[in-house]
Amino acid sequence: MLRQSLRPARLLGTRSWSVSTPATRMSLGRQNSHRIMSNGLCRLYSASEATRESHSPENHLTRSDGISSIIRQDHREIERYYSKIVDSNDPDTQRRYQNAFVWELTRHSIAEELVVYPSLETGVNDGKVMADKDRSEHQVTKDQLYRFQNMNPEDKDFIPTLETLMKDLRMHIKEEEEHDLVKLEEALLPAKSRDMAEQFDMIKAFTPTRSHPGAPNKPPFETAVGLMTAPLDKLRDMFRAWPDESGHKPPSGGAAR
Ligand SMILES: [Fe+2]
Repeated sequence: MLRQSLRPARLLGTRSWSVSTPATRMSLGRQNSHRIMSNGLCRLYSASEATRESHSPENHLTRSDGISSIIRQDHREIERYYSKIVDSNDPDTQRRYQNAFVWELTRHSIAEELVVYPSLETGVNDGKVMADKDRSEHQVTKDQLYRFQNMNPEDKDFIPTLETLMKDLRMHIKEEEEHDLVKLEEALLPAKSRDMAEQFDMIKAFTPTRSHPGAPNKPPFETAVGLMTAPLDKLRDMFRAWPDESGHKPPSGGAAR
């Protein structure tokens, strides 16, 4: 039986809710406000921001959808950003969708590591084998993403690097959708699956937005590292170019340029 709960906690002096997976704790502010502080940087997040970030107008899922639906939706979005990059010959467009691709894939991967894999481990037969395999595949993607995020569209290896990344990622996505998530949903009550989907969305609002391959990939370490790293990533997001489509940039991202 998977066991996850919301319970009160203290974060930076404000009363908040702690979202707990079997091995995960992420403190989230109550009453629509969350405060994260690191290295003197302070950023105030609102629940509406988190919701807007995860449920752009193009998204059609509702709160009644479970964790698999939310994850599949992310996968389609990542694939769409990839297509926008490879189908364009305009470096400015490629740069904007490169930033969106890195932003979405980074947050998605970390949210899976914090919400999905611990639940696989504790609630599914042979779940630990699946989770360990998923984590090692994520590590490969993070290494490739780190390389890709530091490239310019004009670099000759820009598209080949992305293609290599996507080749591995597509296999990972296929295994996840056709096997791991199927097993997980079989082990979950529908209400629990919906709870996990909400946790997944909330956690995405707090994770780093750029690849940090050296960061641990298991909670609670990732949670701590993420809380320290995320504000700096989000600050730098303000100075990056983003797609002109509404909802396809972080709340902290500057105006599309
Ligand atoms: Fe995934």
